[in-house]
Amino acid sequence: MRKKIVAGNWKMNLTLEEGKQLSSEIKDFVRQNPLQNLKGQPGVILFTPFIHLASVAADVAESEGLEAGAQNCHTEEKGAYTGETSAMMIQSAGAGNVLIGHSERRSYFGETDEVLAKKTEIALKNNLRPMFCCGEVLEERNAENHFQVVKKQLEKGLFWLSPVDFAKVVIAYEPVWAIGTGVTASPGQAQEMHAYIRSIIAEKYGDIVAHNTSILYGGSCNAQNAEELFAKEDVDGGLIGGASLKAADFSTIIKSFS
Ligand code: PGA
Repeated sequence: MRKKIVAGNWKMNLTLEEGKQLSSEIKDFVRQNPLQNLKGQPGVILFTPFIHLASVAADVAESEGLEAGAQNCHTEEKGAYTGETSAMMIQSAGAGNVLIGHSERRSYFGETDEVLAKKTEIALKNNLRPMFCCGEVLEERNAENHFQVVKKQLEKGLFWLSPVDFAKVVIAYEPVWAIGTGVTASPGQAQEMHAYIRSIIAEKYGDIVAHNTSILYGGSCNAQNAEELFAKEDVDGGLIGGASLKAADFSTIIKSFS
């Protein structure tokens, strides 16, 4: 059975102190509301800035189902790449997850499908669970190209993986027009795309792998709309940006499975 997941993407927000405070509030919430007792038994991942990662990973280490992750990694293991952070370093900081291909990385940092395939490879090699992001921009949706765009992103980024490796990946569908805009995909739009993604996974890797792949929705998902989105059959949780920065909102989202 595929895992339900609620992940917070802190992006470039919060000082170290603020980040530690937020993670300790989420930890308290999980202590009072053990994830395995909540509806959907969700796993929770905090994707923090690199500066916060080792502290947050240590802080949540004893909390069942609560994990830390990085928002990016370099394509190489190590070397002369000033300012960069490798998958091996993330693993050594005690984090088990990494976001790959967030639309902000694709658009502001020019990360191509080829680069993202390499990042996925190095992440898996270092025993990190990649959360691979995909999604179309508004013009692509308006031109009704959104299925094709997402298909291409997945084919180039992931579909070259062996079935064993693919089974370790989580997918986050994040329509770019919904990220940070306050405009959320309707539950129907999310379900339609998630079902499509599952269908192309089934074509490539078979029904069992497709059935077991967690596909999260991201893009202005918040405490008010999470329940309706998570109620959809193929929506296995969310990747939450803005609403993950407040413990109360994020906790409400964690409890939103029905
Ligand atoms: P948002 O961001 O929830 O603030 O729209 C989601 C994301 O970018 O992962």
